[in-house]
Amino acid sequence: MNPRPDMIEFQDVHKYYGDYHALRGITATIKAGEFFSLLGPSGCGKTTLLRTIAGFEGISSGAVMIDGKNMAGVPANVRPTNMVFQSYAIFPHLTVEQNVGFGLRKDPMSKDQKARAVAEALEMVGLKGYGARAAHALSGGQRQRVALARALILKPKVLLLDEPLSALDKKMREQMQVELIRLQRQVGITFILVTHDQEEALVMSDRIAVMFEGEIAQLADPETLYRRPNSKKVADFIGTMNFLPARIVSEAGGMVEVEAQGFGAMTLTTEQCAAAGADKAGAMVGFRPETLTILFDGQTATDRETMGTVAEVVYYGDMTYYDVKLDGTEVPMRLSMRNVFGRPVLDLGTRTRIAWSPGALVLFR
Ligand SMILES: Nc1ncnc2c1ncn2[C@@H]1O[C@H](COP(=O)(O)OP(=O)(O)O)[C@@H](O)[C@H]1O
Ligand SMILES: [Mg+2]
Repeated sequence: MNPRPDMIEFQDVHKYYGDYHALRGITATIKAGEFFSLLGPSGCGKTTLLRTIAGFEGISSGAVMIDGKNMAGVPANVRPTNMVFQSYAIFPHLTVEQNVGFGLRKDPMSKDQKARAVAEALEMVGLKGYGARAAHALSGGQRQRVALARALILKPKVLLLDEPLSALDKKMREQMQVELIRLQRQVGITFILVTHDQEEALVMSDRIAVMFEGEIAQLADPETLYRRPNSKKVADFIGTMNFLPARIVSEAGGMVEVEAQGFGAMTLTTEQCAAAGADKAGAMVGFRPETLTILFDGQTATDRETMGTVAEVVYYGDMTYYDVKLDGTEVPMRLSMRNVFGRPVLDLGTRTRIAWSPGALVLFR
């Protein structure tokens, strides 16, 4: 298969609102057909960046390219993009059909062709047979589908989605996440999703740009972001990560000798090291809760083993989260264990053996 061509290219994009520097040198490429997410805390510039693609927002310097063309001076209505808003922005006094067909009202295609296009779009979003309903009578999830159908009927090259699911309750949101993934695969166009929800970004995206304060801190696929965050800040924002103070003993030939609190001496590879200098608080090793395992009677560690004391137990049914103070450390670490039928949940204060592996650690320095 040929590598996917570039659909969006940001070239050192800066954006000022008056004195406020909202985008601080964004350089990134989004591939055609990619499900791409902009993820970051509120106010970091996600919506601003999305709007520079749509043409709703001018930029102060740099360039935004779409499908190889510089968008400088190209108005929003002629760009090959379409946007779905958090608020849906559908017309409550129109029917579902009229809402979906709205963008086609000036299109020269025949009435029959339009009706077919509307029916096709409705089927795509799972609203077959809803065309004659009044839009105001729809549920939140159905409104969001109408907004999607209305955007897709115009066959944009890029669909821009600004927190489209944030108004939905948890169950509905999870269902729509799966449907959006399916829809994107089906239509094959580039989707760019803005979200502040790290789980949503991990579930849905081919790649994610993590943003803080107008900058991209890391751009990678979900697994890389989760397993190899390039700074403590990214690690903290995505999922849970434990940190223990560490000392770098030596570094040569792609290997780093490290001495970490509680774990002792180990050798890590440079691939396990986050960008040098990104974390000013001193070196630390980080690890995810599921990479440490409580050893029950008769179980042996496949790699290293240490001892700890259970300091907190949070039972979730399928999982139990334990805070365990490893011997030789000061602060309890968060561990997650899948619950297995017939195996006890440990009590507070239990002394337990813990399996761990240097390969699952990330070094921040
Ligand atoms: N029209 C505007 N005028 C002035 N400041 C703005 C405007 N739009 C956004 N900002 C500011 O720019 C920053 C980024 O905003 P935004 O892109 O909406 O963030 P996000 O979508 O990540 O929450 C925020 O500090 C916000 O207050
Ligand atoms: Mg926003």
